[in-house]
Amino acid sequence: MCSVTSRTQVAIVGAGPAGLMLGHLLHRHGVDSVIIENRSEPHVIERVRAGVLEQGTVDLMRETGTGDRLEREGLRHDGFYIAFNGSRHRIDMAALTGGRAITIYGQNEVIKDLIDARRATGRPLIFEAADVSVGDLQSAQPVVRFTADGVAHELTCDFIGGCDGFHGVCRPSIPSTAMRIFERVHPFGWLGILADAPPSSTELVYCLHERGFALFSMRSTSITRLYLQCTHDEDLSAWSDQRIWSELRARLTTHDGWQPHVGPILQRGVTGMRSFVAEPMRYGRMFLAGDSAHIVLPTGAKGLNLAMADVYRLAFAIAEFYRSGGEQLLECYSERALQRTWRAQRFSFWMTTMLHQGDGHNPFDYRRQIADLEYLFSSRAAMTSLAESYAGAPFDHE
Ligand code: FAD
Ligand code: PHB
Repeated sequence: MCSVTSRTQVAIVGAGPAGLMLGHLLHRHGVDSVIIENRSEPHVIERVRAGVLEQGTVDLMRETGTGDRLEREGLRHDGFYIAFNGSRHRIDMAALTGGRAITIYGQNEVIKDLIDARRATGRPLIFEAADVSVGDLQSAQPVVRFTADGVAHELTCDFIGGCDGFHGVCRPSIPSTAMRIFERVHPFGWLGILADAPPSSTELVYCLHERGFALFSMRSTSITRLYLQCTHDEDLSAWSDQRIWSELRARLTTHDGWQPHVGPILQRGVTGMRSFVAEPMRYGRMFLAGDSAHIVLPTGAKGLNLAMADVYRLAFAIAEFYRSGGEQLLECYSERALQRTWRAQRFSFWMTTMLHQGDGHNPFDYRRQIADLEYLFSSRAAMTSLAESYAGAPFDHE
């Protein structure tokens, strides 16, 4: 096999939201990068994942010229509902946070916009790279090796952005003695569907129910996204369309007759629930960002947003290095990014515990959850705390 040696300033492993946004931000700082992704472009675009963008993510996309379509097609939500005891109760996020909101815009759309932005810069974005590995991480010239179109590549660089998600190669390349893992795997999962049905509520509905948690969400004015709490290893083949809809309706229907509209199911899947943090988010010249360093429970809708907050900080730190030679921002990258991560862990865990049936769940726990929610909606202070965390703090690079 022939082989090619090349060089860039930053080699980015992974073309998810973290890797693509990191490449884009570095480009805007005048820093060169190569993005290396092991899956195909259609696969990366079509994967159905997140849908809730915090204000910070929306602002970042807008300010960096990738927010035009988001502005046109994204659905701004000033609030959301929590349903329990058969009624929906609204959290008026904008009123409680001085105008902060979330925007519904599928991760697929974010990815498409970031790929377009990358192409417009003319900088390299390589899909379907095989045998990706990272090395010489403690040296000033780390290396990423991979094969593309039958050619072996050795790419040396100044820094590696480890943006290859939870199952990538970057984190496992760090010696276990140099990293501490904090983890909790939960005994349940989410069965998620995408349905060709117009949303029956203009805002999301999180639902506590004796049959288990359910979530009503959406992707557009014609597509509904729905989730049901299930077992972590739920057998999807045991769920006919009819069973899925009947369970969703049993959990979500409220006393006023509200329920989701039914339509053809376009996609379905089961997601396990994991809370995970790897510390520190740096090893030598390799910096981890996004899901490669942390996984949060999806109840708080934070994963994609945390990935964006990480790369915002990392791009600044790398740009500062090239501008002044200073390494101070690089040195505090991990500590500061972990602060935001643990806040998101706390919030997602709390939302999850308040709304799901955990191990050994019994009627006591259900009554306690109802009391938690009744308190929440009786206290402006408690609602403000929830609204602030859900809307997310502004991104920061100091
Ligand atoms: P990823 O999106 O995982 O991207 C990593 C990339 O690296 C992938 O393209 C992968 O193919 C590539 N890669 C992997 N290994 C290699 C390798 N060896 N070499 C090269 N490339 C490699 N978050 C929210 O904020 N809001 C939500 O509403 C929300 N809902 C979710 C619902 C579901 C069902 C799921 C599963 C997740 C949800 N999330 C949500 C989480 C969110 O999708 C992730 O946090 C986000 O995708 C993280 O981005 P990332 O770029 O760090 O990682
Ligand atoms: C989604 O629309 O996929 C979604 C919404 C809210 C969450 C998690 C996922 O908390």
